[in-house]
Amino acid sequence: MREPRLSRRGLLAGGAATAVGALAGCAPDQAVPPVAPRTDPQAASAASPVSGGSGGTGGPAGSATEPFDGIHQAGVATAPQTYGVFVGLDLLPDTGREALVRMMRLLTDDARRLTQGRPALADTEPELAVLPARLTVTFGFGPGLFTAAGLADRRPEAAAPLPAFAVDRLRKEWSGGDLLLQICADDALTLTHALRMIVKDARSFAKVRWTQRGFRRGAGTQPAGLTQRNVMGQLDGTVNPAPGAPGFDRAVWVSDGPEWLRGGTTLVLRRIRVEMETWDAVDRVAKEFSVGRRLDNGAPLTGRDEHDVADFEKLNAIGFPVISEQAHIRRAHVADPNLRILRRVYNYDEGLTPEGHADSGLLFASYQADVSRQFVPIQRRLAEADLLNEWTTPIGSAVFAIPPGCSPNGWIGDSLLA
Ligand code: HEM
Repeated sequence: MREPRLSRRGLLAGGAATAVGALAGCAPDQAVPPVAPRTDPQAASAASPVSGGSGGTGGPAGSATEPFDGIHQAGVATAPQTYGVFVGLDLLPDTGREALVRMMRLLTDDARRLTQGRPALADTEPELAVLPARLTVTFGFGPGLFTAAGLADRRPEAAAPLPAFAVDRLRKEWSGGDLLLQICADDALTLTHALRMIVKDARSFAKVRWTQRGFRRGAGTQPAGLTQRNVMGQLDGTVNPAPGAPGFDRAVWVSDGPEWLRGGTTLVLRRIRVEMETWDAVDRVAKEFSVGRRLDNGAPLTGRDEHDVADFEKLNAIGFPVISEQAHIRRAHVADPNLRILRRVYNYDEGLTPEGHADSGLLFASYQADVSRQFVPIQRRLAEADLLNEWTTPIGSAVFAIPPGCSPNGWIGDSLLA
């Protein structure tokens, strides 16, 4: 095969600026790879957006797309896909503002193509790109990026680093990062391909600090719109702002503060390990008491159905609150819809220890307009007294500003870096 890597290498080593320059000047669909790869990506996708080549034809789930361009980045209000990978990158020492512009133009172009079922520029496996399976790529900026760009004074207060919490047992290998890639899809192979293509292009500007992979119930496994369960067996996501509901926009999207971040949001990503062995040893009554909800249908202990409103005032026969003062849902509850957080949680499972114990937990992704006004007070109350703390330990933590989306000719981050 004729070295498709040549074109990739050319693109990265000095060719990047030229390619990006070319990209900037033309609509995304018109950009031409410097050396045509063996299979023309444009032709491949144009011929059949769902063609799987010799591997077969894509089904409805494989060909489904999420829009890339828009006021907001996709991957936040988007109904969660089955698989998610979060990658934290550190910028290389010589990646300054100009290089950041080049990088974000390049990565935006990759994301725009891949999410729409078109191969990335000089994609070495273009056949893997043609089933987008609701792929989304979301970019985030960590504190270090602002310093690297010489824009430390424009680092938003809304994405200030978290204070320390008593429950934290944070590990460096799961925390921090200058740049976030959040890639989600309903198909694991689509996701792996997108991850590889984008990280390949990021490699001349940044190095990977951590990779965290998560999963939810498989697409189509249960009717759409039902709440998923987490690895602890609980229905997780019942009380969560829904796009279009009152308060959602205010709670999630930045509408005041720095101009460049308007239409964006902030992400707190917490890696929370779950002690499955000790959780397994607890009976159902204690498990339900710790959360304040039933395990079978997720109803609050004061109600019958999942979406019944929890009654935090209700007392039992001997005068104690039915939902304990330390139950997770009481400690986490926020009455004001404008101050809620949007939880888009993935499970993780890193396999088994030699003793056969699970290394699993939650990739707790929380989106909010303002970290310190929304996430921090909840996490503080949970750290003080949440019965779930007995079985859960935050071992990773990172905060990112998620820039707004962009127009079809724009790129993610242009409102800050251009
Ligand atoms: C491993 C850790 C965690 C587990 C297993 C867990 C599980 C749950 C479950 C089962 C519910 C009830 C159903 C629902 O409304 O989704 C819930 C609710 C909630 N959780 Fe968590 N959670 C965890 C960590 C956190 C963290 C770190 C936060 C925020 C700092 C948080 C914030 C919330 C909120 C805001 C609610 C809704 C409360 C309400 O009813 O108003 N959770 N969680």
